[in-house]
Amino acid sequence: MSRELLTIINHPLLEHKMAIIRNKLTDTKTFRENLNEIGSLVTYEITRDLETKPVIVETPIASTTCQMLAKEVVIVPILRAGLGMVDGIHTVIPTAKIGHIGLWRDETTLTPHEYYLKLPPFIDQATVLIVDPMLATGGSANAAIDQVKKRGAKDIRFVGLVGAPEGVKAIHDKHPDVHIYLVKLDSHLNEIGYIVPGLGDCGDRLFGTK
Ligand code: PRP
Ligand code: URA
Repeated sequence: MSRELLTIINHPLLEHKMAIIRNKLTDTKTFRENLNEIGSLVTYEITRDLETKPVIVETPIASTTCQMLAKEVVIVPILRAGLGMVDGIHTVIPTAKIGHIGLWRDETTLTPHEYYLKLPPFIDQATVLIVDPMLATGGSANAAIDQVKKRGAKDIRFVGLVGAPEGVKAIHDKHPDVHIYLVKLDSHLNEIGYIVPGLGDCGDRLFGTK
């Protein structure tokens, strides 16, 4: 496993919010709020090395050289659960464009099936953030990365909340150029493909569908 392409983001606020999110007694509203807040907090770390370009700015006092982002940022949530982090990320990068990829995981085979895809056209020039709180087998993440690469994306980061070692390995094996950011790397997958200890079904908890 390539160490440098896996970042586990540590922060006391993230620990606190993870405790709320993992708790099976947390209600839908609180779950959604905390997931979005985590989205905002992790964005600071995920974008730490974004390229900037110099711009001359006139302050009320003098001319000075400042730095602005050199490339567009595109946020691509994997539906449904990825939607739970988008507003939080978008709050911090309000100029980012948003693509969507709809994938559902067959509960028996654990393979992803695509049902929706809409991406901005300039994705080949952009920094692309693939967002999904849950990285289990890695099948959904790899399918989403395949789709953005097909459209020429080169600078791709995977942004998750909880990952299993199986999912991290799956991305590293298929897409070794993609940097993975997680808040927690959990123990393993159980016999039905759920992350242990994880947080259960993220999409259902986010939208109250169970
Ligand atoms: C869940 C989750 C990820 C995927 C992870 O989505 O949100 O997208 O499974 O599993 P994998 O790494 O094994 O592919 P699900 O298909 O349940 O859809 P939902 O978000 O609409 O609930
Ligand atoms: N999808 C989820 O929502 N949770 C898991 O633990 C695994 C896949």
